Amino acid sequence: MSTLAGRTAIVTGGGSGIGAALTRALVREGAHVLCADLDLAAAESVAAGVSGPGTATPRQVDVTSAQDLVDAVDAVVAEHGRLDLMFNNAGITFLGNTEDLTLEQWNAIIDVNVRGVVHGVHAAYPRMIAQGGGHVVNTASMGGLMAAGLMTSYVTTKHAVVGLSLALRTEAAAHGVGVTVVCPAAVDTPILDKGEIGRFKGRDFYLEGQGVKHPVDPDVLARRVLAAVADDEAYVVEPRQARIAWRVGRLSPTFVNKMATRFIAKQRAQAG
Ligand SMILES: NC(=O)c1ccc[n+]([C@@H]2O[C@H](COP(=O)([O-])OP(=O)(O)OC[C@H]3O[C@@H](n4cnc5c(N)ncnc54)[C@H](O)[C@@H]3O)[C@@H](O)[C@H]2O)c1
Repeated sequence: MSTLAGRTAIVTGGGSGIGAALTRALVREGAHVLCADLDLAAAESVAAGVSGPGTATPRQVDVTSAQDLVDAVDAVVAEHGRLDLMFNNAGITFLGNTEDLTLEQWNAIIDVNVRGVVHGVHAAYPRMIAQGGGHVVNTASMGGLMAAGLMTSYVTTKHAVVGLSLALRTEAAAHGVGVTVVCPAAVDTPILDKGEIGRFKGRDFYLEGQGVKHPVDPDVLARRVLAAVADDEAYVVEPRQARIAWRVGRLSPTFVNKMATRFIAKQRAQAG
């Protein structure tokens, strides 16, 4: 029997992309999932489409609201007695020149990508300590491990998520709580075509930047994430090209920053 059978989970951003794939994978393994999304119709549609021994319950949750996360955790604990897995996954992006970003856009991305994760940790982590265990999974990005321009606001927030996750992991271990940070390169989800500012095209930008033809399949990534949770791994970095780039970046950060500067100049020239 799967180690996830009968476990309880919350997945934020569960109505689309990686969150939807995580919801499907967890239900297939027998977990009971609160599929939480700002877009309730999307969460309902994902929950209605799952199959497996587990269950998915849709719920409208805005991760920028600390109270929404507290209420979501309370709802799971009231129904099942505990919360085993907290996936802080909801996120947004902007792609464009930083000088074109409004302060509202800066605040929005910090609110969703950073405060959203903080709110999930704040609501779930003390509960996990009290019950004697659990696992927090935060979706960051390759943008949390490496830095390229035109997505500067996104990189800012994802570096914060990596730092939060790795630091928390070192203190959570003593409480039997695991922490995993998910750092994928381009994954085939709607986010690749969102948040474009000016003439930049997200999908082309991300694939060319990573030197890959096809983005990662979200269902493949979700299975990999659940395996990492089972093994209590600190990082999930996918695909292989991303792991190679990450390694080169650690060996020679200045070289990689020069390469990124050239790439951004080329992208700007192409966008006109
Ligand atoms: N797809 C990629 O290439 C990729 C790569 C690396 C990291 N990520 C990260 O993966 C996570 C999931 O992204 P995705 O690719 O599945 O994108 P997606 O756009 O398909 O899904 C994101 C979901 O988050 C929800 N959401 C947005 N704001 C919210 C809020 N305030 N409260 C609750 N839900 C909210 C959206 O409604 C949507 O359903 C994000 O954190 C993203 O940064 C994605």
